[in-house]
Amino acid sequence: AEPVFPDRPIRVAITGAAGQIGYALLPLICTGRMFGMSQKVSLHLLEITPALTALSGVVMELEDCAFPILDSILATDDPAECFKDVDVAMLVGSFPRKAGMERKELLSKNGAIFHGQGEILEAVASKDVKIVIVGNPANTNALILSYFAKGIPVQNISALTRLDHNRTVGLVAKKLGTSVANVEGVVIWGNHSSTQYPDVSNAKVKGFSQSIVEAMGGVEYLEEAMIPHIQGRGASIIAARKLSSAMSAANAACDHVRDWLLGSNGRIVSMAVHSSGEYDIPKGIWYSFPVQCSRGGKFTIVQGLNVSDFSRARMDATAKELTEEREAALSLYQ
Ligand code: NAD
Ligand code: LMR
Repeated sequence: AEPVFPDRPIRVAITGAAGQIGYALLPLICTGRMFGMSQKVSLHLLEITPALTALSGVVMELEDCAFPILDSILATDDPAECFKDVDVAMLVGSFPRKAGMERKELLSKNGAIFHGQGEILEAVASKDVKIVIVGNPANTNALILSYFAKGIPVQNISALTRLDHNRTVGLVAKKLGTSVANVEGVVIWGNHSSTQYPDVSNAKVKGFSQSIVEAMGGVEYLEEAMIPHIQGRGASIIAARKLSSAMSAANAACDHVRDWLLGSNGRIVSMAVHSSGEYDIPKGIWYSFPVQCSRGGKFTIVQGLNVSDFSRARMDATAKELTEEREAALSLYQ
């Protein structure tokens, strides 16, 4: 890939850098999976004060990897220092849920983090900073951040649903006995939560001329197996690992930023972005839509996809949850 900034390192902030996802994400960035091997990277790593010692160990390991594209590392517990002039901010640092919890139960604990970090990003980051929120509840944390950082264009603030997207691609390929590379056009609609709607009705799979819904086993299979599988995948991983997903989350965050900055090459990917009322979704919430990204950090929401009654009901249910989360979030501040 051509570098985004040929003449200087790209400055990337990662919060919660000593956490699980941080530990899995850093090597992806430093081995060129995010911006290619010709883009130098400057890492700005943020942790809370009690985790600074752990972070210093991560920094030692980064140094010991001798990554050719890693230009410099800043490690700090001061968000203003961390976010100074950053081009990309990956906001991971926050509390993960435990078994038996819904992600929105993290709102009261994590929301405040994104309030504070939004104000600081607005004040000190690059004017064109691209922000991805990974910390849960990711969509509503994006809304909170934007509420407190009105100077940052809403198009520059996104939340991660690429993990759900990749999970769906993986499941379709497995079910149809084909390669993930042959699967195109799956969509995650709505919230990164158990109401999300993974949609294969517009998907195309190389080698399959019939409808993918039929090939997968019909509407019954979607309702009884595929949709609950994807909606509950995060919880299944927590039940099995006793920790939330980290390798796959870091991989998805890397895919999200790479496609956003370098372009998705015509492919449809899912990103939770500000709704301006596309597909009759309420305005002002961060809702996962099908998007296509073009080089330089621009995306467009793919319009005109077929929406069946089956899809509509599910798209509206997850929008309703996000509207309720918005009310709960804003009531904390009013
Ligand atoms: P973790 O507990 O292993 O790491 C989080 C790190 O963030 C910790 O090291 C902690 O010290 C740090 N931290 C906490 N508050 C901070 C703050 N204010 N500033 C900077 N750092 C701070 O958790 P994890 O497994 O890495 O998960 C992180 C978050 O990502 C959780 O909220 C989790 O639910 C979420 N997550 C989201 C997705 C997604 O697809 N959107 C996927 C997986 C996990
Ligand atoms: C996931 O989808 O794996 C993450 O959001 C972690 C979780 O709490 O499910």
